Amino acid sequence: MKEITNLLKAGFPAIAISTTEEGRAELAVAAAVKAAGRTLYVWSVTEGLARVLEAGGVTEFGDTQDPMAMLGHTSALPDKVAILLRDVHPFIGRDASPMLIRKFRDVMMAGKQRSQTLILMGHDVPLPPEWVKEAAVVEWRLPTREELQEVIGAVAMSGKVKVAEIEWDTVLDAAAGLTTTEAENAAALSVVETRGISPDVIRREKAATVRKNGILEIVESSTTLQDIGGLELLKGSLHEKRNLFTKAAREYGLPTPRGTLVVGQPGTGKSLTATATARTFNLPLLRLEAGRLFGSLVGQSEANWRTAFATAKAVAPCILWIDEVDGLFAGAGGASTDGGTTQRVLKAILQDMQMAGDGIFFMLTANDIDRLPDPLIDRLEVWAVDLPSRSEREAIWKIQIEKRSRKSKAFDLARLAEATDGFSGRQIERVWLDAMTRAFNDRREPSMADCEAVAARTVPTSKLMGTEIEARRQRLNGRAMPASAPEGAADPKTAGRRLTV
Ligand SMILES: Nc1ncnc2c1ncn2[C@@H]1O[C@H](COP(=O)(O)OP(=O)(O)OP(=O)(O)O)[C@@H](O)[C@H]1O
Ligand SMILES: [Mg+2]
Repeated sequence: MKEITNLLKAGFPAIAISTTEEGRAELAVAAAVKAAGRTLYVWSVTEGLARVLEAGGVTEFGDTQDPMAMLGHTSALPDKVAILLRDVHPFIGRDASPMLIRKFRDVMMAGKQRSQTLILMGHDVPLPPEWVKEAAVVEWRLPTREELQEVIGAVAMSGKVKVAEIEWDTVLDAAAGLTTTEAENAAALSVVETRGISPDVIRREKAATVRKNGILEIVESSTTLQDIGGLELLKGSLHEKRNLFTKAAREYGLPTPRGTLVVGQPGTGKSLTATATARTFNLPLLRLEAGRLFGSLVGQSEANWRTAFATAKAVAPCILWIDEVDGLFAGAGGASTDGGTTQRVLKAILQDMQMAGDGIFFMLTANDIDRLPDPLIDRLEVWAVDLPSRSEREAIWKIQIEKRSRKSKAFDLARLAEATDGFSGRQIERVWLDAMTRAFNDRREPSMADCEAVAARTVPTSKLMGTEIEARRQRLNGRAMPASAPEGAADPKTAGRRLTV
């Protein structure tokens, strides 16, 4: 990697490389060290310090497992060396010994004179603040499309697959976001299974890999905007944006929109909207598991976010969906409660949002706007969803009935909407499924009577959570655009504004 070679030539006494792909990064470091005319040494807490020999293999130095001993040893090393330190972060983190930190600095000062460079590598390398001026930071990125093509091409050749027949565009879309090793494995599997490079196999492997790696999940969904009842204004706005992620839009000179925050009452179609957006924009949907963002180790949460964001960036254009984002910031403001981790993660998210612009659409869903930090709200288009109006309930009933392959014409939708006043969309679905269950037990088809009977014994969300619903409405008032058109306007009988989606 040219960047590392240049940093070595420029005489930086320390280079920090955060990477999730250690094997590949180490190979690149070795090449860069060689290109800069330095000799490579490696250190790890298990093996101690060792010199890497040109012919392969290493010469070890005894008793250098302890970082202090290793640093002490550097003065005995010749000039023009680079020392790769594996997983050194526990020794320089927040609880590091001041003596060790000082020793590191001494070695760096001396290193500048003698062209000795420490290369700190790990999943996440949090540098002590006082080093920032001395050390260069390199973020190990995921491979580019060209690099992926090279790797997959090599697998294809060795598997005797005709490279000319590979549909590179789709294959590379499928592979984007994988590391080289992962792409190599996926391609090899594809050759074994299909005797070719199949985008489907690679996509499947990517979904599995992304999930295994931690906090992202690729959501496959066939939901469209037509599966959402009501919320006409929100749907209209998303529909308008549908072409903004295309090449044509880019060439036209349009930037991609940053994202949307959908806030409001429970069970009203917020998560549904997120999945429908993916189909509308025709983009892959990456769901962030907010609960798993927070790791137990210091610095791990930010590293988790960075890994997730790096994946999203590589997959881009894509939708990055943070569901129930208010849960994430439940403890926000609480530097006292969690050592400021939440605040640091938030800062990282905000920074990345600022930079993103190109191809990552943030889709945030939440119940409560009050728990969300202002800068986050500020960066997004904010929509408020409320419990469905009468005409919206009609639309939801129609969708739910048809979703279970029944004819909505056989039902009086207006009466059902009336019977489910104050219900959320989720509750309507529940009522319908319960009605179907009743009918099924009697081996007959569900009827109006079933639906009305179940509705009558159900307590509507509006009552169940009455005070909370009203309070939430107040909090949202004026801070967000209403997702629903005013009652009447969206009524198909009175308004000509049916969406063609
Ligand atoms: N507007 C709607 N149109 C059609 N179906 C809906 C609508 N709202 C809710 N539903 C039904 O209820 C289910 C739950 O909705 P969804 O998960 O989108 O709610 P949510 O707003 O994300 O709720 P929560 O705040 O609890 O996360 C959906 O899968 C869908 O079947
Ligand atoms: Mg939800």
